[in-house]
Amino acid sequence: MSDILRFPVDNYTMDVSEAMTKNGPVKVDYRKYEHLQYVANPVDADYQSLDVWVPVAINGQPYDASNAPIFFVIAVGGYMSSRNRGGDGFPGGFPGGPGGPPGGPGGFPGGPGGPPGGANKANGGGYLGLGGDAGVGDNKALALAYGFVVVQPGCRGRDNEWPEGDPRGANGKYYGKAPAGMVDLKAAVRYLRHNKGVMPGDPEKIFSTGGSGGAALSVLLAASGNSDLYAPYLEAIGAADERDDICGTASYSAITDLEHADASYEWEYGKIPASGNEGGPMGFVPAGMVDQELSGQLADLYLKYQDELALEGIDGYGPVTSANAADYILKKFLIPAANKAFFESTKEQQDKYLAEHPWFTFDGESACFTWEAFVEHCGRLKGLPAFDDFNKAMAEPTLFGTATENSRHFTEFSLRNDPNETATELSDDLKVIINMMNPMYYIRSNNPGCAPNWWIRHGACDKDTSLPIITNMATAVSNIGKNVSARLIWDGGHCADDDTEGFMIWIKGICD
Ligand code: DHB
Repeated sequence: MSDILRFPVDNYTMDVSEAMTKNGPVKVDYRKYEHLQYVANPVDADYQSLDVWVPVAINGQPYDASNAPIFFVIAVGGYMSSRNRGGDGFPGGFPGGPGGPPGGPGGFPGGPGGPPGGANKANGGGYLGLGGDAGVGDNKALALAYGFVVVQPGCRGRDNEWPEGDPRGANGKYYGKAPAGMVDLKAAVRYLRHNKGVMPGDPEKIFSTGGSGGAALSVLLAASGNSDLYAPYLEAIGAADERDDICGTASYSAITDLEHADASYEWEYGKIPASGNEGGPMGFVPAGMVDQELSGQLADLYLKYQDELALEGIDGYGPVTSANAADYILKKFLIPAANKAFFESTKEQQDKYLAEHPWFTFDGESACFTWEAFVEHCGRLKGLPAFDDFNKAMAEPTLFGTATENSRHFTEFSLRNDPNETATELSDDLKVIINMMNPMYYIRSNNPGCAPNWWIRHGACDKDTSLPIITNMATAVSNIGKNVSARLIWDGGHCADDDTEGFMIWIKGICD
């Protein structure tokens, strides 16, 4: 019987890519395999297909990628779909959409099918003027230069809907609501394992990467390896019967831990005014203070959650609690980020920064500033609640819709405070899906299929989510013994990245 999930070894075109590395320019001849359907019973094969790039010569020397790491690019922005077939998927995401300016609102790195190319090369990192490796552009060309096999799957997302009158929409027009995108990415991983030894690249060395919503899927893919909760969904689309755990994840500004993101956002930004914006992906956000009563209630929920996590701080910090969370983030993440940027800057840049930021001083060894001054410096971007908004119009309630309902609240707080809702409890089926979409659910239960390697980057002034979401995740994976490289990028905005090549070197170090 023919195996429709068999990798078509001989069906490729050739292409050439070039990347600048620390060791100079690298030219790669590679085989391009496009639009390979990765499930037997696709809902929409335009999305449930992937592209593979296999390096065959590096700087003119023949190269054997049989056992190379697989660089798994999640080209998703805003929890939307990523289209693989029909023109606007791969290479549309090349080389990665721009992130926002440092501390700026960023913006969705890709529209539907207009992917960010995984981890975005955003804003060159260090605000002080140095620290960015702006010469290193897109991460796929760089991955090829490092000899990795590049795989970019399409996947369904919250925006997928059948056109009016399309018979496929008879039982509901939305077909990419949670957990569909994650189901697809797991199916793509299973496809790679199914083709072990046939397709170049070692499926035991898969490293996923993405920015923002794509980063959230990257950390979820890593945390939720082999989760039984996904089994029926994978069976329904005819995914290969294989494991779906991966070796590592890289995430840039993961918009994750969604059901705690509103509370955490108010804890960080509740006491400072929103800058306000007219619309765009965040919707309309009036300038000024958010409702202080509701903000305070949410902030209290965060305190409770922080204590429940019972985390042990990294580098010998000791227990992290609601009482010391700001101090922990300051000492273990923010000050190191500031120091790195400071030391990488010229004397002139340092003096200018000090003159322009009176709240920021340097005592000869370290940057000194308070949590409150830092938060005020960054400013507030989103409204209240920042994710599960009362109008259910933002990315996240739309992610948790159903086949027939475009969006649903996913926190009891928003359900109860939305005057248009009568229910006061989330349904049991939704609670399961919320867990399935949260890497913290899997990390906290020490899922045996959780990836061993975690590269976590986040702009210190990325206001698309709050810092505890990132620092708690980094701490939680450290606490269960994972290999973690986690860092904030000083004054970096949404999807900031200052060391794309460092990520490649990190992968190589793990795999060699
Ligand atoms: C993205 C940004 C957001 O602010 C958000 O809430 C979800 C996703 C994104 O850029 O992917």
